[in-house]
Amino acid sequence: MLKFKILFQISGSIAAYKSAYLISKLVQNNFDVQTVVTNSALQFIGKATLEGLTGNPVFTDTFEDSKMMSHINLMKWADLIILSPASANTINKMANGIADNLVTSLFLAYNRDKPYLIAPAMNTTMFKHPATQRSLQILKSWGVNVLPTDSGYLACGDNGEGKLLDPDKIYEHIINALKSKMNSKVIKGNVLITAGATREYIDGIRFISNISTGKTASTIADYLLDNNYKVTYLHGVNTMKPNGDSTNIEFGNFNNLKEQIQSLLASTQFDVIINAAAISDYTVDEIKESGTKLLASQNAKIDSGLEHLTINLKPTSKIVDMLKSISLNKNVILFAFKFSGDDIFDSSIKQVQQLFNHSNADYIVLNNLHDRRDNDTQTNFHIFDKLKLITNAVDAAQLAERIEQLIKKGI
Ligand SMILES: Cc1cc2nc3c(=O)[nH]c(=O)nc-3n(C[C@H](O)[C@H](O)[C@H](O)COP(=O)(O)O)c2cc1C
Repeated sequence: MLKFKILFQISGSIAAYKSAYLISKLVQNNFDVQTVVTNSALQFIGKATLEGLTGNPVFTDTFEDSKMMSHINLMKWADLIILSPASANTINKMANGIADNLVTSLFLAYNRDKPYLIAPAMNTTMFKHPATQRSLQILKSWGVNVLPTDSGYLACGDNGEGKLLDPDKIYEHIINALKSKMNSKVIKGNVLITAGATREYIDGIRFISNISTGKTASTIADYLLDNNYKVTYLHGVNTMKPNGDSTNIEFGNFNNLKEQIQSLLASTQFDVIINAAAISDYTVDEIKESGTKLLASQNAKIDSGLEHLTINLKPTSKIVDMLKSISLNKNVILFAFKFSGDDIFDSSIKQVQQLFNHSNADYIVLNNLHDRRDNDTQTNFHIFDKLKLITNAVDAAQLAERIEQLIKKGI
């Protein structure tokens, strides 16, 4: 479950003590809570209570050392803001654009992109005062979710409107306000993406690799992250990484990649594998100098003055062929990539067919060396299922969308 971030603000009302119950309920229900209080609120509830309940320091001073930008940063941080209890004084200041403390400054830094709830609590006369009523109307018109008050016995001895809404009901309002966000944050699937090139080492500093940059794979990863997929990004050295919040794991040579894939697929339930890495088809078998075998270790450097050096390569196995069989999830959706150097589309299609036969992939993305721009940007992708070409994409961004549509169909 993803944690939602609540900015819980308290102003000076006798009902402030009720916030302790509500904050505790939020924390127990896995919300991350930061509190901001007015100076008056501290007359009614202690910092120790709030810090103890939330596990976070209490913000109160706009000009606190090293926290000068709290009035902006806390607003950016929050998924939802609540002011409970909202005093008459603070409500009237907010509606007039006054920003003389952290609570009111934060309100001016609020750009209506997330829910802002206020739960008024005051004596009936203060509540019914035209200033307060007008302010509440103004706040409503600005998109603030003004919660109703209860009617009943008030601290001042009166009976009437203005009593703080029951904290359990306030909790329900918070949940309702977050509902659309909660739904949109539900993880749609767990995806493993391989990206970039392997490096087959000749000695400690030289290696055989290829032109893969990870540009396509990182674009796909970012699109999936933006659309609420969990992404594990297994990437080569110096490969482009997603901007979003993926789990990034680096691989080196073919063997290292193979080991890491095996352990990941055996331990984690992935819904989708996108095998976009350019995995070496060959690895170094032996190196000879004028017919004599050289023992080049990973830590050594082959002498640069040698006369005649021969590097023998041996084929690697096809990692893509084992992905489905070693996967914990036997229904994993596998996207394989075929990078073709062939000019003739029909021969590329034959390669795609062969890849389907031995990999059992669900989809294959065909791309061609001739559609590479500036040596690092791949264009023109063709997506096949086992029967036919199903769709094309002009660039990596469009490919990411197409892949996500296919994933949605399959999960
Ligand atoms: C015992 C006591 C109880 C109070 N209760 C409330 C209240 O429930 N609601 C309210 O709006 N003001 C109440 N006040 C008045 C506010 O605390 C006062 O207007 C204060 O300036 C509000 O500051 P703030 O809005 O910056 O938190 C109370 C004052 C006292 C002394």
